[in-house]
Amino acid sequence: MSDSKIHISDHPLVKHKLTLLRRVQTEHKKFRELIRELAMLLGYEAMADLRLVDCTVQTPMAETRGYHLEEDVGLVPILRAGLGMVDGIHEMIPGAQVWHLGIYRDEKTLRPVSYYNKLPIEPTVQVCLILDPMLATGGSAAAAIEVLKHWGVRRIKFVGLIAAPEGIATVTAAHPDVPIHLAAVDDHLNEHGFIVPGLGDAGDRQFGTA
Ligand code: PRP
Repeated sequence: MSDSKIHISDHPLVKHKLTLLRRVQTEHKKFRELIRELAMLLGYEAMADLRLVDCTVQTPMAETRGYHLEEDVGLVPILRAGLGMVDGIHEMIPGAQVWHLGIYRDEKTLRPVSYYNKLPIEPTVQVCLILDPMLATGGSAAAAIEVLKHWGVRRIKFVGLIAAPEGIATVTAAHPDVPIHLAAVDDHLNEHGFIVPGLGDAGDRQFGTA
């Protein structure tokens, strides 16, 4: 993709792990491990522009220049499938806040239905990473971005694993300012709104509920 807001990871580990994730034989435990590892790799790339503040640090040898993070980061998994992406990123940035959004896709209309949101009135972070492995029609991601913008967060990024071109088009049309970080862009959506070739239902495959 040429759009600079769309970041498709080129990392060999991402490509390798995504291939294992797609395999129909991959069982639930391994699937969860791969989601966690892929989230860590993609989250690392998505946080490459976090702002820093200069500071000094005393080593055992001398005082030297250092940095600490200027911005408070929020991890916002979309329930359910986004849950599996939290831990890998949280390990890298343990000070991040985790705010859950419950959004599911109506099976008939394919429209997002919001059912959980306990965000406080005032925003408590400057940067939010929305986490969801799947960007299909893009309805759920666009709805989550809308919620966070309304909350007052200025810097929002979407971190997913795979997307359909239709979903990317929907999100970028509604929110051209929001970067999208992915492991791959797939071919198309089928008549049921599933990403093809995809990886099946990421929620069901993580939680054994197929
Ligand atoms: C899946 C996926 C996304 C959404 C993507 O969730 O995890 O949240 O669908 O579809 P969209 O881009 O067309 O909105 P699902 O609705 O299956 O909910 P679940 O994770 O609770 O099973």
